Amino acid sequence: MSTERTPRKLHVVTHGCQMNVYDSARMTDLLRPLGYETVATPEGADMVILNTCHIRERAEEKVFSQLGRLRLMKEAQGGQMMIAVTGCVAQAEGEILAKRAPFVDLVVGPQAYHRLPELIAQAHRKTGAVIDTDFPAEQKFDHLPDDAAPQGVISFLSIQEGCDKFCSFCVVPYTRGAEASRPAGGVIAEARRMVASGAREIALLGQNVNAYHGEGPDGHVWSLTRLLQSLSEIEGLERIRYTTSHPNDMADELIAAHRDNAKLMPFLHLPVQSGSDKILRAMNRKHKADDFRRIVDQLRDARPDMALSSDFIVGHPGESDTDFTETMELVRETGFALAYSFKYSPRPGTPAASLPQVEEAVKDARLQELQALLRAQQNEFNAGTVGLETPVLFTGAGRHPGQIAGRSLWLQPVVVQHDRDLAGQIRMVKITGANPNSLSGTLLDKELIAA
Ligand code: 5AD
Ligand code: SF4
Repeated sequence: MSTERTPRKLHVVTHGCQMNVYDSARMTDLLRPLGYETVATPEGADMVILNTCHIRERAEEKVFSQLGRLRLMKEAQGGQMMIAVTGCVAQAEGEILAKRAPFVDLVVGPQAYHRLPELIAQAHRKTGAVIDTDFPAEQKFDHLPDDAAPQGVISFLSIQEGCDKFCSFCVVPYTRGAEASRPAGGVIAEARRMVASGAREIALLGQNVNAYHGEGPDGHVWSLTRLLQSLSEIEGLERIRYTTSHPNDMADELIAAHRDNAKLMPFLHLPVQSGSDKILRAMNRKHKADDFRRIVDQLRDARPDMALSSDFIVGHPGESDTDFTETMELVRETGFALAYSFKYSPRPGTPAASLPQVEEAVKDARLQELQALLRAQQNEFNAGTVGLETPVLFTGAGRHPGQIAGRSLWLQPVVVQHDRDLAGQIRMVKITGANPNSLSGTLLDKELIAA
């Protein structure tokens, strides 16, 4: 007798950060044994998961407009589409969401993904949304399947989740819960599986990844530095990154690892948010602008080719012209390879949301000014790599025929004309051109650094 089931179609939409991308992949892994196969569009899908982001208002609006479109599709399919909202909007707005969008069948917070199969079964039995936004005592990390589908040459691995820092503007401590680190043994095992299935670069993920303090296989608590050291011993793993970090958790040993551990890439995303001590205090960041400057200096001492990326918020409550000028100064002094900047967006339930707000027009003007500077720095950084002979990790075909694409040490996409697929190989490339978002180069055929 055949045990084959008709495959069920699953469509997953992911918003927000890399953690959500990772979680979406894990949810897909979890549903595969139940017969769910992923499809590229929501039309005709049996199940649609909208994995959402709550970090700024605009991200949330997107969720509701997408839900509106899904509702029409569901109606056109005679109701035969299960709609699940997961991620941070699900966590923050659970009940409200179920009321505002009653056609949603499941609302699942980030801590409950491992219970998805059971929740789907419940949703089949019941009308109205099944909501699970608990923060259970057990960790979801312990319950996710370990037969993850391969991600590719560059793979992402979640090692830490949640945040205890409570920056005045941020919803993460409320939506992702308290900081929790995954035991190191599980991380190493997953990294090994990734490498065995073709990964050459692994990016460790966490909202506060450098605060990592997971239980080690030796029974001691491991820091991120200790974990990095162990991961770098995996043969075939050539490059390691970690993101996102907080300046206060940039331990001296971690900075030193950028000097001592050759697999650690010279590129770090280190959000500073503002260059004004007054605003940093209002943001509850618990560090000063000079602390950030000092860390940057130490990183560059440890690794002279270190490139930095950051996040900035303009128009946090209380930000004056002088405060903003201090942010511009910090950016000018530091020189960023890449940066993300946002207008402050009041998030319900966060301390800064109830303070007097900066005018929208002022926020707009500041954002434009800051982004112009950051864009110029990014262009300058990319242009500065022209002429370099530098290793590139190839990931696959480029967008145009005859092109292959990869990543530089500093995460820049690099495109090379070549007739053979070099995916998974690290080759020396001479950089010949720079665009705002990518580089082009020619292959220096003589050297193969790693395959
Ligand atoms: N408004 C604007 N930007 C925000 N961020 C987080 N919360 C807010 C908010 N309420 C930005 C921060 C953070 C990045 C992920 O998003 O810069 O580092
Ligand atoms: Fe949000 Fe601050 Fe925690 Fe980062 S450190 S997740 S900005 S509260």
